[in-house]
Amino acid sequence: MNVPFLDLKAQYRQIEGEILPALREVCENCQFVLGPKVAQFEKDFAAFCGAKHCVAVNSGTSALHLALRCLNVGPGDEVIVPAMTFVATAWAVSYTGATPAFADVEAAQRTLDPAAIEAAITPRTKAILPVHLYGMPADMDAINAVAARHGLAVVEDAAQAHGARYRGKPVGTFGRACCFSFYPGKNLGAYGEGGAVVTNDDAIADFARRLRDHGQRVRYHHETVGYNYRMEGFQGAVLGIKLPRLEAWNQGRRRHAELYRRLLKDVPGLTVPSEAEGFESVYHLFVIEVDNRDEIAKKLNEAGVQTGLHYPVCVHRQEAYADLNLGAGSFPVSERLADRCLSLPMCAELTEEQIRYVCQTLKDSLT
Ligand SMILES: Cc1ncc(COP(=O)(O)O)c(C=O)c1O
Repeated sequence: MNVPFLDLKAQYRQIEGEILPALREVCENCQFVLGPKVAQFEKDFAAFCGAKHCVAVNSGTSALHLALRCLNVGPGDEVIVPAMTFVATAWAVSYTGATPAFADVEAAQRTLDPAAIEAAITPRTKAILPVHLYGMPADMDAINAVAARHGLAVVEDAAQAHGARYRGKPVGTFGRACCFSFYPGKNLGAYGEGGAVVTNDDAIADFARRLRDHGQRVRYHHETVGYNYRMEGFQGAVLGIKLPRLEAWNQGRRRHAELYRRLLKDVPGLTVPSEAEGFESVYHLFVIEVDNRDEIAKKLNEAGVQTGLHYPVCVHRQEAYADLNLGAGSFPVSERLADRCLSLPMCAELTEEQIRYVCQTLKDSLT
């Protein structure tokens, strides 16, 4: 049996009848950049997150960069980011001229460890950038408590966590701003690049809107050095069609995670993700941990099961950050996760039969 890691074609087939007319409408009206489809999506996505504003941009990386710019993060500042995340979390800090200050994650949660944040704070620290990794919300109450004690801003990286809930509330308004990616493979994915900054703060929303569009509010009157980070009309159209289905797709992922958990319960040598009380993951990824991960991945792939690695190298160990001189052993929990992580197939379209096959193949490969 072949089990794809992610089946975007199957998802497309469900919505093709709505997607194609919406794309045609964008073409017929020549609303290729921003425009009414993007504006409508901004309204709807802000409502989905329970937030006042959504500023749609051209990627999650741009969203993070804008959010940090709006908080006046710049050269000489430090921003605390997890050592285990997709590298773009740290890029955004570097783009502002500030330095990413890495901190370790918690072993079970795989998100920023509040005690590690506390230890990483210096007089230069300006903000904390927790990542809701793999779809699991970070412990926002604990992180906000550290931030409040030290007068730091918090920006959420929810690129992998559209609709994830922390203590019953969707991610998006636990910090000063929250950043999303709509890269095609995300839980809410565009048909190209996309991202958004979500916030309850009028000033942040206003500045982000100007910055994404060359620093202008009135055409050709540039108040500040800005960027071309605008969302395309096509992406607004696609996201507008997908958003009403997101909750059902997320629930599908949660059901699949539950079945994985049931079938892999008590398998020696495997660590399977679990949910603590008050944390509701949307399972962008279902990441297990196992020794001799590469060998297991090879066996699964040979049996037709596609897997992924998220991520095999921690951010502080990337060559791009070699100048920070953070050697092996700097962040042991993150490094152990990098060595042992293995992402199993996960998307709403998976079938029970496929999940049973993945689990059986995995168990066989462990013996
Ligand atoms: C945790 C995290 N942060 C940031 C990003 C960057 O988003 P994008 O690829 O849309 O620029 C991603 C996406 O891959 C991500 O997974």
